[in-house]
Amino acid sequence: MLWSDPAATFGSPVRTCEVPNSTYSARSNWITHMSSTSPLRVAVTGAAGQIGYSLLFRIASGAMFGPTQPVILHLIEIPDEKALRALQGVCMELEDCAFPLLKGTVATSDLNAGFQGVNWALLVGAVPRKAGMERKDLLGINGKIFTSQGQAIAQHAASDVRTLVVGNPCNTNALIALSNAPGVPRDQFFAMTMLDENRAKTQLAKKASTDVTGVTNLAVWGNHSTTMFPDFFNAKINGRPVPDIIGHREWLEKDFLTTVQKRGAAIIEARGLSSAASAANAVVDTVRKLTTPTPTGDWFSVAVCSDGSYGIEKGLMFSYPVRSDGRKWEIVQDLPVNPFSQAKIAATEAELKEEKALVAELLPR
Ligand code: NAD
Ligand code: LMR
Repeated sequence: MLWSDPAATFGSPVRTCEVPNSTYSARSNWITHMSSTSPLRVAVTGAAGQIGYSLLFRIASGAMFGPTQPVILHLIEIPDEKALRALQGVCMELEDCAFPLLKGTVATSDLNAGFQGVNWALLVGAVPRKAGMERKDLLGINGKIFTSQGQAIAQHAASDVRTLVVGNPCNTNALIALSNAPGVPRDQFFAMTMLDENRAKTQLAKKASTDVTGVTNLAVWGNHSTTMFPDFFNAKINGRPVPDIIGHREWLEKDFLTTVQKRGAAIIEARGLSSAASAANAVVDTVRKLTTPTPTGDWFSVAVCSDGSYGIEKGLMFSYPVRSDGRKWEIVQDLPVNPFSQAKIAATEAELKEEKALVAELLPR
């Protein structure tokens, strides 16, 4: 590895570590990247934060892109001495792991350098909520972060760049990023609802006294907020509809929904900090599920730019049941939506419309 002092280039005191002969100019097709041994460039914003600390080591170990895919990590932080010092420590720890797949790191507070040539942009960096807040209360603080990040991605990332927004409120932040990234196809933007899917699966498995791997077809509809709808009607336990296995309808319609919808707040209450390791795990799961074929008949949850499926307003970043062939994804069509589900889906759509209106000035026409 070749170390260089980036201060002149990046305007920050953080060192970058680059591999000789690696280049920022590759703009090859995504599937080509995945099947070759040339490193994938993966940007993580908020790299010195809680989620970053749980996420980076899993990417570098191969958990996200598989055991043969080398990666170069682009670690992006705010231009703040404390944050950059912490990032330096993270870089040291990454080095100290001697990960065979980690072919370099770029640590910077400069968005242009940070997103240069990246194939994935994992937008984690944002302020977390405190106890008593809703995620949408963060829009005023966090929303503007995603304008400049969207612009920098459009200008500097590889043409195949996939962007996954984690920083809250993630659906509307993803809408802001997408809207500020002219030229980047809308279907390359995502917001994370996998943590909600994982939470829902575990609650159902516990109630049914079965293994979590037996819970499939769990779609979270809508917003990553208390209006989300984890769809237990279409979910299955060991191949059978959830309501056939868990006959306690009141538990499903009330306790289950509330537990999943308010799990983030319960963790903040207990830990004094928002979820981090489970969030990082959900980032790994989301990217993995988008880049590997979905098992036949199953689906997973991720917020994508609505094409009007299921009557949802076009252009909202809405969590749907999604399938992937490992290269392209699609919204699963024609799932039954009964009146109970329809009301829940309408409520979460209404909230996303409200959030969109709140950030109208951040959405270029
Ligand atoms: P944290 O405060 O521990 O870390 C955030 C990091 O982001 C900090 O190091 C900060 O310096 C950095 N940062 C802030 N603004 C930035 C910017 N403009 N560019 C680059 N870096 C920036 O927070 P955390 O616990 O890691 O959570 C990060 C975000 O993820 C929060 O908004 C949180 O609510 C959200 N989150 C989302 C989910 C989800 O399921 N979608 C789950 C958990 C947390
Ligand atoms: C979560 O769901 O744990 C995160 O979105 C953090 C939060 O604010 O709830």
